[in-house]
Amino acid sequence: MQALILAGGEGTRLRPLTSTMPKPVVPLVDRPFVAYMLEWLRGHGVDDVVLSCGFMAEAVRSVLGDGAGLGIKLTYLEEPEPLGTGGAVRFAEHLLAERFFVLNGDVLTDIDLTAQLEQHERTGARATLALTSVEDPSAYGLVRREADFSVREFVEKPGAEQIDTNLVNAGAYILEREVLAEMAPAGTNISIERELFPALVRRGLFGYEAAGYWLDIGTPERYLQGTFDILEGNVKTEIGRRLAGAGLTLVDGARIEGRVVAPALVGDDSAVAEGASVGGRVVLGPGVTVAEGAHVESSVLLAGARVGPRTTIAGSIVGPEASIGGGCHIHDVVLGASVKVGSDNVLAAGARIFPGVELPDGAIKF
Ligand code: GDD
Ligand code: MG
Repeated sequence: MQALILAGGEGTRLRPLTSTMPKPVVPLVDRPFVAYMLEWLRGHGVDDVVLSCGFMAEAVRSVLGDGAGLGIKLTYLEEPEPLGTGGAVRFAEHLLAERFFVLNGDVLTDIDLTAQLEQHERTGARATLALTSVEDPSAYGLVRREADFSVREFVEKPGAEQIDTNLVNAGAYILEREVLAEMAPAGTNISIERELFPALVRRGLFGYEAAGYWLDIGTPERYLQGTFDILEGNVKTEIGRRLAGAGLTLVDGARIEGRVVAPALVGDDSAVAEGASVGGRVVLGPGVTVAEGAHVESSVLLAGARVGPRTTIAGSIVGPEASIGGGCHIHDVVLGASVKVGSDNVLAAGARIFPGVELPDGAIKF
């Protein structure tokens, strides 16, 4: 079975992390994000994946290669300019089989694609959308169904007055190739949600209500939520199973003189100094150093990040090679790659510091 992953968005809501790397390869716990999608797809018989990249396609290719290690044939497609979710499918048409999955490239999930495929066959659908429940559908595609699972209405980004169900488009579709003819020709910017799905209502569009874990990881809050859910085993993943087997902490290849509180994963060549504490709900990438007396909780520190003595970090994402001096308080903040925060700074309340920025000692207080 074949799958097309839409991974060409700019990931603006995840900046500054996505200022220096495309969203599909942003590390999540111990691997590039899209590796979770490939692992999940492989588990449902997918062995041929087309990655529809726009932004920084070379960077994705250099991280994932040809997929041989995953048992999947990976093909990369780069659009000359962003063509939208529908335009990207059209652009890939020459590579697509008679029936294929289409996946939004920013979804962490373990929903049952095999059961979705069974429903697709049973109903004779031309397109089947996986549906999931969310508290607030306004940022999603709202889907109303009939009792026979056919879709009555598809409303992308509904206004408050339009919300009468929690069921939304989970960004996992099964399409018959012939439906692509319902969209404008290749080369134009098309939204699959605003053009194809409304056009297919009552003409072979069905919804499959999926159980299981589902999260769009496209904002810092949800990226952290996804990290915690992997650590705690709320979503089925390979690394989650390894963590569970190890009592919820993995510290292989790290130098730990301080304390590590579960759940936590500490990467190779990282160091946690005496009197420092790391966890719970913490991921340190490879080569991260946490100096004496520092305290890190509910946060992700990517490769090569450095934390000075007595600094506290919570609810934050620290980009690769960023460094934070001593005596800082960093709460609910995203630091881009190679940011340098001098000592005795207080950063909080959703601040985002862009790659390479340097803050002098004592520059910011709240
Ligand atoms: N190749 C390519 N080209 N991919 C694109 C383009 C493009 O021009 N535009 C967006 N994508 C990719 C993004 O990288 C992302 O993986 C996916 O398409 C969806 O785009 P988002 O920008 O993340 O959309 P959204 O989250 O606001 O809404 C979509 O996802 C929701 C579920 O998370 C819609 O499909 C909603 O209906 C859905 O509920
Ligand atoms: Mg999204």
